[in-house]
Amino acid sequence: MMRAPAIAAALVLAAAPVAALAGGDLSRSIGRALFERAWVPAPSSTKANDGLGPLFNARACVACHNGLGRAPATTDADGAFIHQGMVVKLSNAAGRPDPVYRAQVQTSAVPGLLPEARVLMSGTEARLLELSSGPISAETRHGVRQAPALRGLGRLSDVPDEAILALADPDDRDGDGISGRANLIADAAGVTRVGRFGLKASSADLRHQVELAFLLDLGMSTTAFPVEWGDCPTPTCRAAPAGGGVGDPEIRDDLVAMLTDFLASVPPPAAQEDDSSGRALFAATGCASCHVPALPSARGEVRAFTDLLLHDLGDALDGGATEPDVAATEWRTAPLWGIRHALSAGTGLLHDGRAASVADAVRLHGGEASNARQRFDVLPEDDRLNLLRYVEGL
Ligand code: HEC
Ligand code: HEC
Repeated sequence: MMRAPAIAAALVLAAAPVAALAGGDLSRSIGRALFERAWVPAPSSTKANDGLGPLFNARACVACHNGLGRAPATTDADGAFIHQGMVVKLSNAAGRPDPVYRAQVQTSAVPGLLPEARVLMSGTEARLLELSSGPISAETRHGVRQAPALRGLGRLSDVPDEAILALADPDDRDGDGISGRANLIADAAGVTRVGRFGLKASSADLRHQVELAFLLDLGMSTTAFPVEWGDCPTPTCRAAPAGGGVGDPEIRDDLVAMLTDFLASVPPPAAQEDDSSGRALFAATGCASCHVPALPSARGEVRAFTDLLLHDLGDALDGGATEPDVAATEWRTAPLWGIRHALSAGTGLLHDGRAASVADAVRLHGGEASNARQRFDVLPEDDRLNLLRYVEGL
């Protein structure tokens, strides 16, 4: 039986534009239904449902962002091939996409077309097998990224650009070894904004990140990325059936708005900070210099434990592929709110899930976080355990 939001979405998808609904409860339940919907390749009997691919990684947002939490990567029947929950990014050292396979390896395709590759995992190392369009460029590096939790993103949107810029110290003028910098992005209107979404903070607004997901993960076009063949490299792939076209995106603006609205309404993980000595140690060790406990916003403090800045964490966290103007070793400070859920779900920590525990994650912090890691290493045993317990409980 269809659940209520699915019915609502089916009705609305069949109806005329529903911009008037944006922002309301109904809009959010439709947004949730869109997040959970499994899309199908074009052409299908219901045009409103189709447009998946030609290349894609999954049929639904929820396939990777299961329960809106961080999901462990799932493998297919062979056990070692990633199926969902992770993606492999491609770029050269300067962050330019691969000339053939472009920015992301799509591991699924519509009938009649080969996926770009199969991804064989060993630990967090990915190997690309059965490449569909010949060998990959020698300049191209690849790296794995795990789907993050999607809770509290509306609160991250609330933080004013100025508050993030006020924390940036790109030339390390205060000499503390930490030189976080904002990822400045020109939006569609050419206005410079502070990026904050994505593991490289390369989207300034949530809607853009949602459209990017439609493009790269589902192969579906939107107004911002209007090509109906998505991330397709080759003429064969571009000629495969697709749903829309320029001026007629596969996902209409009002649907993007409702999905964005739904995500923005998902509350952050419930706060659970105790007042133990762990909290003081978190600050004294230097963790709080990047994992800033609270950022200001007009709707009250945002207790996400991030400064939303990019920091270079050193070679151990080189992500292989990167984005333009961001080093492969630079990452947005990971928000630590809700980390207890990732730990209980056993998803692993850091951008590719390689750390099994908070202590493991800290051991991999180098670069700008070297001082904090060294202070952590020499803490008396009891203090170290208190600090870890504090972080594990967030
Ligand atoms: C194949 C797996 C996969 C699918 C399907 C997928 N995502 Fe993601 N998502 C990811 C990964 C991996 C990242 C981290 C990407 C990065 O920043 O490099 C991510 C990041 C995000 C972020 C940024 C979160 C943050 O903390 O800034 C949002 C928002 C998001 N996805 C929304 C969506 C939506 C909406 C859909 C469906 C239209 C979707 N995703 C489908 C894997 C997936
Ligand atoms: C220089 C800035 C900086 C400092 C100092 C720092 N971190 Fe981080 N931290 C980061 C960044 C950036 C990431 C994301 C790295 C990645 O995904 O590969 C991160 C990731 C993490 C994660 C993984 C979170 C997740 O969701 O996967 C944990 C846990 C963590 N840090 C704890 C700490 C603790 C504890 C300290 C103090 C001992 C600390 N960090 C100090 C910048 C910093």
